[in-house]
Order: sequence, then structure tokens, then C-alpha cells
Amino acid sequence: MTSRAVVPPTDKLDWTTIGFQYRDTNGFVKYTWTEETGWDEGKFLTDPMLNIHVCATGLHYGQQCFEGLKAFRDNDGRVRIFRPDVNAKRMQRSADMAHMPRVPVEIFEQAVRRTVEANLEFVPPKESGGSLYIRPVLFGSGPFIGMGAAPEFSFIVFGMPVGNYYSGGVVPVDALVIEDFDRTAPNGTGATKVGGNYASTFGPMLRAKKQGYPITLHLDSKTHTYIDEFSTSNFVALTHPDPVTKKRTFVTPNSSTILQSVTRLSLEDIAEKTLGWEVEERPVKFEELVQGRFAEVAAVGTAAILTPVRKIVRGDQVVCIGSGTQTEIGEGFARLYKEYRGIQSGDQDDTFGWMWPA
Ligand code: COI
Repeated sequence: MTSRAVVPPTDKLDWTTIGFQYRDTNGFVKYTWTEETGWDEGKFLTDPMLNIHVCATGLHYGQQCFEGLKAFRDNDGRVRIFRPDVNAKRMQRSADMAHMPRVPVEIFEQAVRRTVEANLEFVPPKESGGSLYIRPVLFGSGPFIGMGAAPEFSFIVFGMPVGNYYSGGVVPVDALVIEDFDRTAPNGTGATKVGGNYASTFGPMLRAKKQGYPITLHLDSKTHTYIDEFSTSNFVALTHPDPVTKKRTFVTPNSSTILQSVTRLSLEDIAEKTLGWEVEERPVKFEELVQGRFAEVAAVGTAAILTPVRKIVRGDQVVCIGSGTQTEIGEGFARLYKEYRGIQSGDQDDTFGWMWPA
């Protein structure tokens, strides 16, 4: 990809304060699908306002899905994208769920590449720790008022420079368990990245935020016994280190109603193959938290990367992870985070072949 040519970051942004928010860039790409033509060649557009049909199924019935991935600047100032193939395949599973045409992996990767190449000056400097957050969206853009697929679909990919998702950075937060609302039904849409899984949590999340909880946790909808995931990202936990080997076990729910987080899958690989730890993907009872089985808990996802959780509140029950008052990331997650961010920033060898282009 030509983005291996170095284009420096713009000097019009203060990279230390960019936070996580939408910003206009040079433009984005848009591909269109119809039954007759399939996917077209795609266009690069500079006006962020879309001209969309009043009867588009994406607007009426939520016939849509999205993705999130990131591009990073390495030590030489060049730009590489983290695991776009995995996001491409996940978007295909979401497309199947919402009865939309799949975007072929090659078109997904081409769209991401075109967007990044057109916006190289918006990829933050390596030392800022930021990235270009890339947002692919697939939606029904043609008119159809019955319950069915649109005659036309649009696939857009835009990007924005981002820093920390949470203003405090990678510092431990307190989480609230949402008890009066279930994120997804058993056998429902939870494993896919459709917008409805997110919009429906905005209310509970905002209420939790007002009570002082920046992050919210969902239990399994059927029994409220097992941990599903946070509203924004997957749940992961580390056991206490073995007194002799110092190794941990990386534990994460294997629920069928949670998203397959690319961050979580990558951390699992690092835990197992780089650090030699055990990885357990299995049902995780909330009770295990209460029993103190875990030394560290975190929320992991592309946008926020890794957010340590030090306290989980469920009604009157307050569960502390460790002291519950710690102000820094724990030792176990610090090791995983360093390896993971090292690969993205080029400080570590990309032994897994995750950075694109290699
Ligand atoms: C991501 O982590 O990329 C997401 O889509 C989550 C969203 C809360 C920003």
C-alpha cells in the first residue's frame, strides 16, 4: 500500500487532547450494491453529508451493521492497519444477521486502505499513543416499506483521529451491573455488531454514568447468573499468579450473545503464545467474582483498548477486584497491554502477522 510512504501528521491538531470524538477528515469511500450490479467500484467522497432515501430500510428497520478498527503510525512514521481481515469476516456475520449482502473481504480491505491512504495526515504521531479509528458501516439505503431487504445497500468507510476513549486513559474504573434491562435475547443478535445492540444501551449507560459508573456490565439475559459483556466491550479476567511459575489463567465468557472482540481474541493469543498462560473461554458465573477468583478484570475492545475494572456494583452488592481502590492497571494486564500495543506501534515484532501491510 502506498501509505508506506511517510506522510507526517497534520500540525493543525493538538494530539495530546484529541480524545475520542468525530472529526471531519479529507473524505471517505462509499460502495453501492444492487441486485443487478452487485458491489460497484466505490467512490471517494468529501462531503460527510449523505443523500439518503426517505424510505431506506437502514433508517426504518435498523437494517445495518458496523465495524471498528484502527490504523497506527510506527517508529518510522509509516502507517499500518490492525487485522482488517478479522473485522471484514465479522462484518459478514453481521450482514447475514440483518439480511444484507456480504461485503467481500477484498472490497472491505480495499475500502479501508483507500480511506486510510486519503487521510494519512490524520493518523496521530506514534508518541501520542493515538490512532486513526476506522468506522465501516453497511446499511440498507434503498426504499422498501415492507418487512424485507432493501433494493440497494451502501457500504461506507470513514476514519477519525482518536486518543483515549475514557478521558482518564488506562486507569481502573468502577462498573455497574445493568439489572433492569437485557442487552440481547438468548439466540438473538448479541454476537453481531448491529446498531440496535448499542443504541438500546445508551439509556442505561447514561444513567449509570450519572451515578458515577463510566462502564456498565450485562449478565446473561435468561438467568442473570453468568457474565456476558460490558455495553462497550468484552469482559476478561486474570486469575492470581501461580506462586511458583507466576503464570496466570486468562478467563473470558464463551457466551453466544457477545461480540467476538478482535482485541480480546488478540490478547488471548498473546497470553497463550507469548506469555505461556492458560486461556479459558467458558461460562463465567458472576459468583466467581464474588468469591475473589480473579485478581484482575478488564473491559477490552477496539475503541477503548483495555480498561481495568476495580469494582463491580450489582444492586447493594459491591464486589472489589483486588483492593477496589487501586489507581493503576494491574501487573497481569500491564504485561498483556504492553505486548499488544507494542505490536500495533511497531515496538514489538509482529510475530502473529497482524499488521497490514506486513
Ligand atoms: C469499538 O470498540 O470499536 C466499538 O465499536 C465500541 C463503541 C463503544 C465505540
